[in-house]
Amino acid sequence: MTAPRRTGERVRARGGRTAAQVRWLQRQLDDPFVAEAKKRGFRARSVFKLEEIDKKHGLLRRGTAVLDLGAAPGSWTQYAVQKGCRVVACDLLEMAPVPGAAFVRGDFTDPAVQERLRELLGGPADVVLSDVAPNTTGLRNVDRLKVEAVVEAVLDLLGRVLRPGGACLVKLLKGAEGTILPLVRQRFAAHRLIRPKATRPESSELYLLATGFRPEPSSS
Ligand SMILES: C[S@@+](CC[C@H](N)C(=O)[O-])C[C@H]1O[C@@H](n2cnc3c(N)ncnc32)[C@H](O)[C@@H]1O
Repeated sequence: MTAPRRTGERVRARGGRTAAQVRWLQRQLDDPFVAEAKKRGFRARSVFKLEEIDKKHGLLRRGTAVLDLGAAPGSWTQYAVQKGCRVVACDLLEMAPVPGAAFVRGDFTDPAVQERLRELLGGPADVVLSDVAPNTTGLRNVDRLKVEAVVEAVLDLLGRVLRPGGACLVKLLKGAEGTILPLVRQRFAAHRLIRPKATRPESSELYLLATGFRPEPSSS
């Protein structure tokens, strides 16, 4: 992405907006990633997290079969389709169609949803993306446990959907590595933790990129 530019526009506290809404709108206006996403036709600023990781680590190529979990509003799906990937996306929320991608609305931990995702993939995925964000409480330990549970569910699903040697990119919260990394070491040849530039400074999110999937957990 090019050098960040701010709009300088101010949000007025009118029309019954709460102080929190005004702060949120102002943050959106001041955020160069929001402006760039809009300019390039992406539905969310989070696309720049995936783009940065993809450009650096060569994750997505033409023909890559991708399962995108927690996909709404759809910027990662849009990006992967633009790269020429075959994408199956899933979210609890409805998502406006992304031409070229299949979508399943539901909870990715639900066995019936997982079965539908497998059918639509039509074979093992090369890459599983998870930007799944559970509802947070603001209580750091509670939120970390919720995120750990999501990541464990993603890792559990991999055995049914990811090809041997495949890769997984999954969102974590700082502090969850202690529980998650031992599981990742059993299932992948290599991994790294990444904090993309588009992650907001106040956020404690991290992304785990794991490559070289082993369907049978290694004891080492
Ligand atoms: C940060 S957003 C994803 C943004 C997306 N990567 C993009 O670029 O547009 C996280 C999403 O995870 C979804 N989510 C949370 N729990 C889920 C679950 N159990 N199954 C499917 N989606 C879930 C939420 O509904 C939300 O849309």
